[in-house]
Amino acid sequence: MTHRIALIPGDGIGIPVTQAAMRVVTASGADVQTVTFPWSCDHYLQHGVMMPDDGIETLRGFDAIFLGAVGWPARVPDSVSLHGLLLPIRKAFVQYANIRPHRLLEGVEGPLKTRDFDILCIRENTEGEYSGAGGRVHVGTPDEVAVETAIFTRAGVERILRFGFEQARARRGQLASVTKSNAQRHTMVFWDQVTDELAAEYPDVQVTRYHIDAMCARMVMAPESLDVVVASNLFGDILTDLGAAIQGGLGFAASANIDPTRSGPSMFEPVHGSAPDIADKGIANPMAAFWSAAMMLEHLGQTAPAARIMVAMEAATARGIGTQPGRDTTDAITAAVLAQLKD
Ligand code: NAD
Ligand code: IPM
Ligand code: MN
Repeated sequence: MTHRIALIPGDGIGIPVTQAAMRVVTASGADVQTVTFPWSCDHYLQHGVMMPDDGIETLRGFDAIFLGAVGWPARVPDSVSLHGLLLPIRKAFVQYANIRPHRLLEGVEGPLKTRDFDILCIRENTEGEYSGAGGRVHVGTPDEVAVETAIFTRAGVERILRFGFEQARARRGQLASVTKSNAQRHTMVFWDQVTDELAAEYPDVQVTRYHIDAMCARMVMAPESLDVVVASNLFGDILTDLGAAIQGGLGFAASANIDPTRSGPSMFEPVHGSAPDIADKGIANPMAAFWSAAMMLEHLGQTAPAARIMVAMEAATARGIGTQPGRDTTDAITAAVLAQLKD
């Protein structure tokens, strides 16, 4: 069955890595049809909006969304670009589970002594610290106050934790739940409480609670002790750039924004942003985009092409392709993976 994919390359390195990923998807034998939407900071500068008013409705008709990266802070404030495109898509399609795998591909050298880790971060993706509630008063005066309220609902917390328990059950049976309940006594104590309630339903899963600060240290000092890690929106955001770092850099970190109920399209994107510092140098590592594309095909049930992409990527990294930051061009890395796919 042909799946229809909405492509949003976005800004900066989002554009070349999306293009490269689609070449790899085609070469994998996947059955997809793509439609590209030029929604980006350029689009904003031309039209005054990041995407058209009916953008969400347009995306609803697709089987999945693939996004490169959004943001060009020198020209459009992030508060406009991200809140006009990426974040509304996650919310509108209730993509509440953001799945981010952290492990070292063969041949990739991370900064740690150990290679022995395989962590699946599950980040809450629709509420929490990203709820957007709040505001500023007495702007520009000495009395100015800025408030950003984190909103955690029982439905929201329960569904992401349940998702985490299910993932742990399907893997090595260990769930790490991350909070800061020693300092934040409303939201985070609530999260811990729901964790304990659900733990009773999953006696086969060993659940351990960690504070976010301690988890940061653990991911560096003892990453092999972790299996599935579940965290709130902001904590998950921060932990997954740390996860990216231990797996060799942002060029390797993939993500899937999933609506497990499948009532709308899920979205797949690298963890990284538009990387303005290297955007016109042709050296963005497209591996994170390839891995995200493989996650998309897997989600759509095209498991054989998904597996072929992962095997081809790892065959390339095993030969040292793309493993030294900044050495190989996007095109060279793409060509190497395409060559593996032809074998
Ligand atoms: P970034 O991820 O774009 O870059 C951080 C650092 O990692 C930079 O030095 C960059 O060169 C490097 N890097 C990132 N991806 C790389 C790759 N594939 N290959 C090689 N090096 C890579 O983060 P930032 O600089 O904080 O953000 C830049 C813009 O992107 C901002 O507007 C930000 O809000 C946005 N952003 C968007 C997304 C998204 O669309 N999902 C994610 C993160 C940041
Ligand atoms: C990510 C990004 C986004 C986030 C930003 C760009 C809003 O950092 O996908 O990790 O915080 O979710
Ligand atoms: Mn992030």
